[in-house]
Amino acid sequence: MAGGELKRVFFSVPMAIVAVPAAIAVAEGRAEHGRELAQALCSRCHAITASGASPMPQAPPFSEIVRRYPPESLAEALAEGLVTGHPAMPEIRLEPRAIADFLAFLETL
Ligand code: HEC
Repeated sequence: MAGGELKRVFFSVPMAIVAVPAAIAVAEGRAEHGRELAQALCSRCHAITASGASPMPQAPPFSEIVRRYPPESLAEALAEGLVTGHPAMPEIRLEPRAIADFLAFLETL
């Protein structure tokens, strides 16, 4: 009987189709999570989109920050606690995994 053979073909084809988008979703998920972090923690003061003005005029837009600082120094700042001379900005500290996601997001700007 060729039934078993046929069944195997039917099951293996959809599996192959599912595997590819799943791999892409993992890569995108990081930047997407970073965007959510930025949205939750930073967006009430900073513009977190590629263009546009910040809600708080003194806070540089992220599109500006990524041009001003190399990613490594931002990563270090986020790990040790992001403090600026400006009292309006709260001290922010992120977990290494969240920092990686955050930087992946910044790279999309
Ligand atoms: C309550 C408002 C507020 C929030 C929330 C906030 N910032 Fe800021 N941020 C500011 C202000 C105001 C400045 C400008 C500080 C200055 O010029 O001294 C600033 C400056 C910065 C700078 C530039 C520092 C420098 O020395 O030039 C970076 C980088 C930064 N913010 C990152 C972030 C990140 C990342 C988040 C979210 C995790 C965040 N900020 C959340 C208000 C905020």
